[in-house]
Amino acid sequence: MPRPEQSPSLPGYLQENETSEEVRDLIGSIPTEKGWVANHLHQYQGFWHTSRQLQGVLACQKHFQAQDGDIFLVTTPKSGSTWLKAMMFALVNRVSFPDPKQHPLLTNNPHALVPFLEMEYIGNEHLDFTNLTFPRLFSTHLPLLSLPKSVEDSDCKLVYLCRNPKDTFVSLWHFTNKLRPDDRGAGSLEETFDKFCRGVSLYGPFWDHVLGYWKGSLEWPQRIFFLKYEDMKSEPKVQLRRLSEFLGCPFSLEEEKSGVLDAILELCSFENLSNLEVNKIGRLLNGVEHQAFFRRGEVGDSKNYLTAEMKEKMDMITEQKLNCYGLKL
Ligand code: A3P
Repeated sequence: MPRPEQSPSLPGYLQENETSEEVRDLIGSIPTEKGWVANHLHQYQGFWHTSRQLQGVLACQKHFQAQDGDIFLVTTPKSGSTWLKAMMFALVNRVSFPDPKQHPLLTNNPHALVPFLEMEYIGNEHLDFTNLTFPRLFSTHLPLLSLPKSVEDSDCKLVYLCRNPKDTFVSLWHFTNKLRPDDRGAGSLEETFDKFCRGVSLYGPFWDHVLGYWKGSLEWPQRIFFLKYEDMKSEPKVQLRRLSEFLGCPFSLEEEKSGVLDAILELCSFENLSNLEVNKIGRLLNGVEHQAFFRRGEVGDSKNYLTAEMKEKMDMITEQKLNCYGLKL
């Protein structure tokens, strides 16, 4: 089997020290399994989290106040969150930053421009987001039923980007291997595959996460927009146009003619972002290297890693869990 690249850094959200008493009490009463990188994962409201992450989840559920007009960018890990953040930031701020040569995305990693809701709340209960410009963009990996209550109660919108589970898994395997301390070596592909299929992965079960938002998008199409990574890749213009219409900021004829839509896609393309100096060096505040978010950015890379049996197994789970709801991945 191919070996992934390594890096010794372990970001704060994967560490197990410094959790609050509330989290320690909760952990004692919920299912726990061995993690991929963190020592443990804990199942809260049906989904798996590290202990530090749980602290952020509980705090944001308690304290975050959504406002009318907020936009939430939702993904499972490795479904294209970085790409979505870049595109959405460029889309909703296109009037403020008309010059592609002066754009904030040229000098900031996309994660630095959009706050990551539950991560921001780790060890920090009372956050002030009043400095964010309207519309406020937040990203999250939270499943639908774990979102703070104020999200449901306010007039905000959610954009969900999903990716086929085989590529998501392979991307996650590479990413977590980069985070593992050198002395632990790479995680076994077979062992992590088994965990992923059993649902034991960060914010997993993958299929339940996707299904929650898929059903939500059918029930509340004005509030939840369901987008696929593969469709963004194959017809980016069509999808970006749909997104702009959903958000109530459609491209005008003039914008289309003057190439505003094309410029956003170009700015946010894998080739462009991954080659920017800012994304080749530096780290996020949580310690993850910017470059860890850019690997291949392709559809179907999983075929280079998964055996025929693995593909068959994952396709079968997807068929059993999602096809009956009209969702094909
Ligand atoms: P691969 O590991 O398959 O290359 P996330 O942003 O949710 O962490 O997901 C990371 C995945 O999205 C990685 O997939 C990464 O290469 C890919 N990616 C990052 N930026 C992208 C972009 N601008 N366009 C397409 N894919 C991108």
